[in-house]
Amino acid sequence: MSELFIQGPNKLSGEICIHGAKNSTLPLMAASLLCDNECILHNCPVLSDVDTSLKILRYLGCRVQRLGNDVAIDPSSADQCKIPDSLMREMRSSIIFLGAIVSRMGKAELSFPGGCELGPRPIDLHLLALRKMGVIIEEDHGCLKCSAPDGVKGTCINLSFPSVGATENIMIAASCAKGTTIITNAAREPEIWDLADFLNSCGAKIYGAGESTVVIEGVKSLSGCEHRVIPDRIAASTFLAAAAITGSTLTVSQIIPEHIAPVIPILEECGCHFDISKSSMKITAPKRLGRVKSVRTMPYPGFPTDAQAPVMAMTTLSDGTSVFIETIFESRYKHVGELLRLGANIKVEGRVAIVEGVSRLSGAPVEAADLRGGAALVVAGLAAQGVTQISGLKHLDRGYESLEKSLASLGADIKRI
Ligand code: UD1
Repeated sequence: MSELFIQGPNKLSGEICIHGAKNSTLPLMAASLLCDNECILHNCPVLSDVDTSLKILRYLGCRVQRLGNDVAIDPSSADQCKIPDSLMREMRSSIIFLGAIVSRMGKAELSFPGGCELGPRPIDLHLLALRKMGVIIEEDHGCLKCSAPDGVKGTCINLSFPSVGATENIMIAASCAKGTTIITNAAREPEIWDLADFLNSCGAKIYGAGESTVVIEGVKSLSGCEHRVIPDRIAASTFLAAAAITGSTLTVSQIIPEHIAPVIPILEECGCHFDISKSSMKITAPKRLGRVKSVRTMPYPGFPTDAQAPVMAMTTLSDGTSVFIETIFESRYKHVGELLRLGANIKVEGRVAIVEGVSRLSGAPVEAADLRGGAALVVAGLAAQGVTQISGLKHLDRGYESLEKSLASLGADIKRI
């Protein structure tokens, strides 16, 4: 069991190239199952969740190869329609394979994803939509047995909440459905746009991705394609928070600045300055950060729930009181208890967290309970006096490629032991 040791406080400097987006890579890998020929995905991050998706594709019968950040998926030999419980448990978001499997095989069987570190993980919106598309779904002893005897059919789906995963599952299932599917109140996250871009390159007819209404005209078949995964906006936001709390000047490159736009005003409110170019941004942080009045997590283009924990860690050293309101997930404050161990002053009342900035954090042993909560501990550890020892790295490894190497190359004193 390895742990991270950070000797702080550290200033960061130089340039960090951001890896491909985990949350884009997973649906793209699932969508590739629909194609007749090989798909090549460039800029895939080396992460445990991506490895789990590769295992799922192999289990389904695809030929899969990975070379560094390139992944080749040949789905022509796929012949299985089941995802075993062990793989579903490894990655709750494996539900993203449901639409692809049922569309390709006419049936699918996988275990119910159940709860996760962020609280209950309902999939009712996914199931409601697929049922509307003609998929018969039986929920039996924690297992989902799905079949589409007459094929998947296009229809109108109004999502009661713009769920990212449900929008993706519907788009994938609808790409080769009979007829046209119209999704209203669709999620507008950049990853939705990337998925549509990939599917359209394979021959799908998807219009309006990135807007609230997405129209998908079903096509008979999809070819393969080569596609470059978009940069990870949450990894970029994490490095910006790390630069901000340490009073650093850092260039974050290979990004799409527009995707990070919801986070920038918060950092500016704390006193950070930005020089933004086409694919990079330079952050210059003040000696001491100011407070941020309120951060409310919202669907895109609102402030991303995934950036809440690292940005909260950043405000623990701010001058003043910052308020966070988590509206997306129920249990997304697990990092708070660990930040308190580092000397932060945070109170949680339901979905609201109030951070009273302190003048000093001090290193301590802490444990990551989830992916972004783990990133928050790294952000705080970089600014804390003395050694911060972080366990629970399996969570961090789900979403950040070689985090400690990247931070060490920017001047941090950080080691994995
Ligand atoms: C995706 C991201 C995750 C991010 C989240 C919100 C991936 C792999 N994960 O997760 O990192 O935090 O978007 O931006 O892309 N909900 C239901 N019923 C459903 C589906 C969702 O009630 O059928 C609820 C969830 O419990 C949650 C909210 O809707 O409260 C948002 O979930 P959703 O947008 O679906 O997130 P994911 O796609 O799971």
